[in-house]
Amino acid sequence: MKSAMCVIGTGYVGLCTGVGFAEKGFKVICVGRTKEKIERINKGDPIIYEPVLEDSLKKVIKNGLFQATIDLKYAIENSNISFICVGTPSKHDGSIDLGDIRKAAEDIGKFMKTKKDYHIVVVKSTVVPETTDKIVIPSLEKTSGKKTGRDFGVCMNPEFLREGMALKDFLEPDRIVIGEYNKKSGDILENIYKIFNAPILRTNLKVAETIKYANNAFLATKISFANEIGNICKKLGIDTYDVFRGVGMDHRISPHFFNAGAGWGGSCFPKDVSALIAKSKELGYEPKLLEEVRELNKRQKVRIVEQLESKLGSLKDKKIALLGLSFKPNTDDIREASSIAIIEALKRKGAAIIAYDPQAIENMKQLFPDLIYTKTAQEALKGVDASVIITEWEEFKQLNENDFGLMKNRLIFEGRKVLDPNQIKDFEGICW
Ligand code: UGA
Repeated sequence: MKSAMCVIGTGYVGLCTGVGFAEKGFKVICVGRTKEKIERINKGDPIIYEPVLEDSLKKVIKNGLFQATIDLKYAIENSNISFICVGTPSKHDGSIDLGDIRKAAEDIGKFMKTKKDYHIVVVKSTVVPETTDKIVIPSLEKTSGKKTGRDFGVCMNPEFLREGMALKDFLEPDRIVIGEYNKKSGDILENIYKIFNAPILRTNLKVAETIKYANNAFLATKISFANEIGNICKKLGIDTYDVFRGVGMDHRISPHFFNAGAGWGGSCFPKDVSALIAKSKELGYEPKLLEEVRELNKRQKVRIVEQLESKLGSLKDKKIALLGLSFKPNTDDIREASSIAIIEALKRKGAAIIAYDPQAIENMKQLFPDLIYTKTAQEALKGVDASVIITEWEEFKQLNENDFGLMKNRLIFEGRKVLDPNQIKDFEGICW
């Protein structure tokens, strides 16, 4: 019989993990905190915007493999493995807030106390190295009165899901990393994952935690490196994408995640790079490379504003259309999006902002209620002094000369490589 699972957390990671395992035939109980949210999920509404997740959620509810609840006791009693998928946000100083992790572990422990069967607790949330050993295990032992390894198992199993591709990434991973407290815990988790067509790497808890941070920090560094070379290319008057086409052909380097642009954002890279910097300092090491990667990214996000100024002079009362507000396409997520830094800089300079995004307007309105938001890209372009593409939504690739003809002053900037130079004349890229 397949394991029954309890998944704690109903955000991107929790929901995609729960729905993903249910897609693979496991019985899943997802645990959330708010009744209204749980009711919506049980009706097939994932709440977050994530392609294909809604269809999949509806399917697994219908075939009886997935349910959501606020009752953790019920979920623990009716499963033999729990995945902790709660959020690990940043504190003001950039270090990680482990409050929800501690709470989840304490609550699981409470309900494991009376449970006879061997239960495995798996940390999937991104947690800084040593968290599972120093916070999760002591919290579980404190409230359960049981001993790790002997009475219950523990693993750390990082996720590598990209927003917008999260379910696909879950179902078709490059690899599965299993950090294990002991062999028994790792064997049970490996047995679950063996039906996935992916290599499995078994290691200890601390190594698994660090793999996740090193992975994200490397990807952020790789993009920042592409941006640095891109800024040099801009000065040389060449297209950095021509350069990286050549660089990416070196098999030691690979062409992926080399797209220069207006910086990296989202709920992961900024938070994780900062948390790794803070952890490193706590351990007594100054991570200068990572600090500069973070600083370079801050500067990169607003470079386009400097480029606007160099063409338009003062931006005071200039009408600027911003196309694309989400931190990347196919999501309504604006966390740490480059658009936020650009809007703040433009507002400081007194520009009038007209903004459009296919999905993220409602979220952006919460942050900046005072901008003009439009229903189409064309409406945003009408009568403006300049336009900036910040997110590479597919629909912006279809913009044509007539659309840009709606502008008062035909000054087009790209923060991402979107427009086709064979179709659109005279536009300027951030690094091309
Ligand atoms: C990232 C990682 O890619 C996932 O592997 C990881 O699981 C996830 O964080 C996480 O820690 O949970 P995500 O934040 O969803 O996923 O988004 P990415 O697709 O990695 O993009 C992050 C940012 O980098 C975006 O702002 C994107 O525009 C930017 N980016 C990405 C570039 O500027 N250039 C690139 O070549 C790729």
